[in-house]
Amino acid sequence: MKTFELNNQTMIPAVGFGVFQIPNNGPTYDATLAALKAGYRHIDTAAGYMNESDVGKAVKDSGIAREEIFITSKLWLQDYGYENAKKGIENSLKALDTDYIDLYLLHQPYGDYLGAWKALEEAYQAGKIKAIGISNITVNLWNKFKDGMTIMPAVNQVEFNPFTQQKELRKVMDENNIRLEAWFPLGHGNKDLLENETIVSLAHQYNKNAGQIILRWIYQEGVISLPKSTNPERMKGNIDIFDFALTDDEMKAIQALDTGKATHNPEDPANETRLMGLKIHD
Ligand code: A2P
Repeated sequence: MKTFELNNQTMIPAVGFGVFQIPNNGPTYDATLAALKAGYRHIDTAAGYMNESDVGKAVKDSGIAREEIFITSKLWLQDYGYENAKKGIENSLKALDTDYIDLYLLHQPYGDYLGAWKALEEAYQAGKIKAIGISNITVNLWNKFKDGMTIMPAVNQVEFNPFTQQKELRKVMDENNIRLEAWFPLGHGNKDLLENETIVSLAHQYNKNAGQIILRWIYQEGVISLPKSTNPERMKGNIDIFDFALTDDEMKAIQALDTGKATHNPEDPANETRLMGLKIHD
């Protein structure tokens, strides 16, 4: 598995397995174990997914050394604010049954964000978290929060795929050496994307499937991707993208597919209200 270097010299596997919307108590355990068996070494979970404990169990039962697996988790809004965040981090460590988390993100950009960030910075300095980052941060939100941060985030995990290329955000993140991570790298199964002519024709040319072409493009863009698949063949295939390379012209052809739009707008007040209302514990 190829890796990228983060701004604190931590190495992160370029493709991770995302467990968003996979239930706990079985399904996430099975999916994580299958992913590790298929060769994934990077699992992306979140307190808000409520399946950290299955990820932790699967990592333990995989027989693979802990230090060979990169685990990302995220703090949920309910645990924002400095004091709550300290507890939230401890809860994630406990649920994952691990001494450290490789990467820990602030999941959503609302509430007492900077209080929570301070707790992440302290956990980072204490070695409980090896890298800290942000998620769903737009340029406006970055400008709102950046001055309150002492440690520069290592990543910003946002919606990203050939239709949603976040060009303005990428420029600002690049200037700050913050690497993008892609959620919905395959457009969450969007047929218009997976059946796009440019992508399908490249798939034929390289004897790969559409998802593999997209994930290879994301890799060559220098972005970490977190594809999800419940299909064992596709799960395997989604990390089998390192034996071919897209040319500059082919990269440009996919760059031209950008719509400049995303399905999720973190600045929409309706999203803030909805997400702030989601409780994951008492
Ligand atoms: P499946 O689970 O049947 O493989 P995203 O990661 O952007 O959220 O997208 C996940 C969706 O993309 C799922 O519906 C998944 O379906 C589908 N998918 C995953 N890998 C591929 C692939 N290589 N080609 C086409 N569709 C894929």
